[in-house]
Amino acid sequence: MVKVSTYGRAIGALNYGELDERGIEVAKEIEDRNAPGGDFLGWKNYASNLPDEEVERIIETAEYIRDNFDALVVVGIGGSYLGARATIDAIKGLYSDDDFEIIYLGNTLSANYTSQVLRHLENKKFAVNVVSKSGTTTEPAIGFRQVKDLLKSKHDKEYVKHAIYVTTDAKSGALRQEADAEGYTSFVIPSDIGGRFSVITPVGLLPIACAGIDIREFVRGIRDGEKEYSSFDYRDNPAYYYGATRYLLYHQMRFTTEMFVSYEMQEKMIEEWLKQLFDESEGKNGLGMLCASGVFTTDLHSMGQFIQDGAPIMFETIFKAEEPISDYTVPYDEENLDNLNYLAGKKGSYINDQAYLATLHAHTSCHTPAIVLSYPKMDAYNIGNLYYFFFRACAYSAYLLGVNPFNQPGVDVYKKNMFKLLGKPGYEDK
Ligand code: PA5
Repeated sequence: MVKVSTYGRAIGALNYGELDERGIEVAKEIEDRNAPGGDFLGWKNYASNLPDEEVERIIETAEYIRDNFDALVVVGIGGSYLGARATIDAIKGLYSDDDFEIIYLGNTLSANYTSQVLRHLENKKFAVNVVSKSGTTTEPAIGFRQVKDLLKSKHDKEYVKHAIYVTTDAKSGALRQEADAEGYTSFVIPSDIGGRFSVITPVGLLPIACAGIDIREFVRGIRDGEKEYSSFDYRDNPAYYYGATRYLLYHQMRFTTEMFVSYEMQEKMIEEWLKQLFDESEGKNGLGMLCASGVFTTDLHSMGQFIQDGAPIMFETIFKAEEPISDYTVPYDEENLDNLNYLAGKKGSYINDQAYLATLHAHTSCHTPAIVLSYPKMDAYNIGNLYYFFFRACAYSAYLLGVNPFNQPGVDVYKKNMFKLLGKPGYEDK
């Protein structure tokens, strides 16, 4: 379970009283699914309704892929990509011993990146998991066509059929039609769960299982989260307490930036996932905070000056595992030419923790308040639980703000312009 602590004068001065009634109303709206976007609250009880047989089918598919291929290419963008990558990086680390590779494609239109990935795949034995809820998104559609072409140039139809796995809507979209026509193994993204809330469905579960991570534990963490973060009262619900605090910092104190902070390199992609979750859910109708991110202490050497001394626009949301998953000890050096012997025998995790405490004190004693979210460990159970915590907090906070968390009308504007420039049929006059 996630624990929430707060630091800094601005948080001490917040008037939570304004949420005594409004907070309960919003919690009821989430429960009853009767606010705008309420038909996209399927994630709320998805994990507890997910049959264990479906989890086992995903695990069996992942085992087949790991046994028969050297790599999985995950083709997807936004919510159809970030959650899987965030989880795999956080749990396995950035230099894992596992020989099985997970490679990402269709997450950009960069010709350089795409051609590098295709070259990298040239002599590999790879399977593909193409993930798109709409089944029509340009980036994954192009990526999928490229890898399919590569597979087809080297293998017969039967091989290609067993190398491609599709995750998409049950009925609609070009990808569903193609999966059914070609007989690809497919998994369903429920119609009542939007992309950025979909890591808990096969969107995340299949790639995460292919990375060798225990998705039974991941799902168990989410199921427990459904119970732990369900109280209507923000004082008894850590997810709503966090959602209330970030909302009040924006609404009462006019903080315009929330900076997600981790002290772990391998959590960088969780920050990317969080930025999508909150920015795409809240930034609409001229409202919302910009979510930024930093991995400390690395980014203290780039952004630290601004946070300490620049414009007072931000608060930090620090998420931190209580227990390290691996560690090192600083060796003693006879000559001590680097003057580091004062740290000899100290654990790396201890040094990182002291940096955290020192930074927390430095930032909160100037104008940057902090919300600290501690969770027990960077493992499958706790990461699943953490995601569910953020889902609840995001829905609550966005409804307090008065926006529908589950649409993204703004994203279509650039797409229309791009389609017109690219000559997509139907977009000539847009
Ligand atoms: O959260 C969202 O809905 C988006 O970020 C989508 O996940 C993203 O645009 C990809 O869409 P799709 O899965 O339809 O390809």
